[in-house]
Amino acid sequence: NGALGEVWNEEMSSTMLGKRLRKVVQNYQAMNKYGVKYPGPAAHRPKLSGPELLCQIKEMVQITTLTPDMEPFSGLPWASQLPQHQITTDIGPFKTCAVVSSAGSLKNSGLGKEIDTHDAVIRFNAAPTTGFEKDVGSKTTVRLINSQVMASEDHHFLSSSLYSAGILVSWDPGPYSSDLREWFNKTDYPIFKQYQRYRRLHPQQPFYIIHPRMEWQLWQRIQDNMDETIQKNPPSSGLLGTVLMMSLCEVVHVYEFLPSRRKTELCHYYQRFSDAACTLGAYHPLLYEKNLVKRMNQGSDRDIYTYGRVTLPGFITFNC
Ligand code: C5P
Repeated sequence: NGALGEVWNEEMSSTMLGKRLRKVVQNYQAMNKYGVKYPGPAAHRPKLSGPELLCQIKEMVQITTLTPDMEPFSGLPWASQLPQHQITTDIGPFKTCAVVSSAGSLKNSGLGKEIDTHDAVIRFNAAPTTGFEKDVGSKTTVRLINSQVMASEDHHFLSSSLYSAGILVSWDPGPYSSDLREWFNKTDYPIFKQYQRYRRLHPQQPFYIIHPRMEWQLWQRIQDNMDETIQKNPPSSGLLGTVLMMSLCEVVHVYEFLPSRRKTELCHYYQRFSDAACTLGAYHPLLYEKNLVKRMNQGSDRDIYTYGRVTLPGFITFNC
């Protein structure tokens, strides 16, 4: 009927969460597993506009993937399995790109056709297309996966056909120092063991690993632009993938990261499991990621409400 319901409010804070989730988030905000050393939000700093925020991210977040020349990998026999060049050198630039969050609100969206019209599509973790084409499309250009998916028994990472389409990009929460040697000796999940095994089984499929520095540079942009202390954990795959695509594409459409009128507690469109933490975050500073994306959005609130669609400009399209 044309009435515009409420969309994501960019001033969301942990105090607006339900009692149970608020407790979980506050617990994570008090922990510091990765040794974050950051002064925290300065008092009375000016709030940045969307374009200013876009510039900060373009200038301060380096999109870097591991290459065989980097220490300590350069000294290891399997270093040659790593791609020779940066992902940003090897792929793109694309004109239009779609970022498909895995949110439950994609269910019954009918967005599949629209998603597939993009030149490149990024999906996350175990999100399938088979059987869900009407809502999420069928094209997969890049799949961004976390190290937990690579390591856990129930995902069958090494054998499942889910992972064999497109370019793989993986990440694991590294230490805040972003020291590669420190990270190599203490990953959250065995990302390097699984990487080597996968590469032996699928030597032809491009497969990159994100430098942990990117996670923390992005984390700093979030913390710097929020008034409260955020979780000292890396951003979600969804935001990492969005920024990756902004470096590869002229226009990026992000679907159901900011929930549409279909918003639901259903965690993923492909699973029967509900938890508000999937949309609002617990471990990840997801709430604040969404505040930031809302501020940078160049599309309309109606696009968010109807299609769950946010429009972000690629880095090459603006000067700072
Ligand atoms: O759960 P998973 O990390 O595989 O989902 C991919 C990404 O989609 C998340 O990292 C998050 O950014 C986004 N997402 C969301 N709301 C949900 C589920 C996922 O924003 N309910």
